[in-house]
Amino acid sequence: MKHAAGLLWVALLGGALVHSGAQSSPTVARTPPMGWNSWNRFGTKIDDSIIRAEADAMVSSGMKAAGYEYVNIDDGWEGQRDSEGNLTPNNKFPDMKALAAYVHSKGLKLGIYSSPGPRTCGGFAGSYGHEEQDAKLFASWGVDYLKYDWCSAGSVYERSQYPEVLHKMAVALAHAGRPMVYSFHGRGAVWDYAAAEGANLWRTTGDIRDSYARMLAIGFAQQGLETFAGPGHWNDPDMLEVGNGGMKDNEYRMHMSVWCLLAAPLLAGNDLRTMTPETRTILTNPEVIAVDQDPAGTEGRIVYQQGPIAVMMKPLADGSRAVGLFNREQGVVTISVNFRDIGLPEEASVRDLWLRRDLGRFHGRYTVDVPEHSGVFVRIR
Ligand code: GLA
Repeated sequence: MKHAAGLLWVALLGGALVHSGAQSSPTVARTPPMGWNSWNRFGTKIDDSIIRAEADAMVSSGMKAAGYEYVNIDDGWEGQRDSEGNLTPNNKFPDMKALAAYVHSKGLKLGIYSSPGPRTCGGFAGSYGHEEQDAKLFASWGVDYLKYDWCSAGSVYERSQYPEVLHKMAVALAHAGRPMVYSFHGRGAVWDYAAAEGANLWRTTGDIRDSYARMLAIGFAQQGLETFAGPGHWNDPDMLEVGNGGMKDNEYRMHMSVWCLLAAPLLAGNDLRTMTPETRTILTNPEVIAVDQDPAGTEGRIVYQQGPIAVMMKPLADGSRAVGLFNREQGVVTISVNFRDIGLPEEASVRDLWLRRDLGRFHGRYTVDVPEHSGVFVRIR
């Protein structure tokens, strides 16, 4: 309902909105952004050579070929403002323009990080009072993506101003002269206004950690937000932890499956230079990624949930359904999905997306034994 109403509003006011720079940019993020971000693995211990090496690894590992595109610098790159208020990088980033050119030379795009507050979460300079100047600076470097993180903004803005805070940078980016993906992390029910005010993605949760419990707590708590997602504007349940070592491979497969069903941005957060073959397989499976990147841009939802069991379903552009049958606890559980319950006819064929194998035609339902902390991820048509 919400989504339909939003579309109508855009259709009526579209010209004016685009002109003022509001409404999430229609030219970027038509499908959920894919890439890598420095935070989950490196925190603020980043520098120019790490970013270059991760860009190299994104190509050599096959991540780029699988669709990953953005190489995103998170918090920790910022230095001081000069006498004219221009933000300079710290001495770990000698030349941002050259870094952007390097990343572009690999056929990739560069992302950067700031805050609407005076300080970022790591205590570095934020964009408060310098929004247009920073947007222009990022564009002049060749930046293609901005993660704009609330952090200290609550110290300078009232709650009633929150949508304006998002909007201000959207307008600044729209006027900066370079298309940039706008990723916003605010406070409260950001999804209510984020797309209309100009964000391409917005965080829906607090920070992820590399733990199974935290991954579950985020992944299965996105219910009800699916109406806000669509081409150009996405819910962001935070970045991937796949390959960082705190979960087992079956748990990382569940993490990846759930994020793809949610049409979440896929921002790998591991060290691409040293990942295991299994991690690479999880991050690059083309049939799994195709669910996330489906052109219809419909976010999946939980269709059944009881105790250890959760079944998530994402309708796909070709009429098929991606379905995740998850066992969140210990021991094996048998899980079924009824075809009629997910809008399919009695007869359907099922393909296992992790095994990349057709399982055959089934009548009425598909039933499978799911091992502990695992999911079976299928496409049913
Ligand atoms: C917040 C964000 C994280 C990361 C850090 C950087 O915690 O949610 O994703 O960007 O700030 O300081």
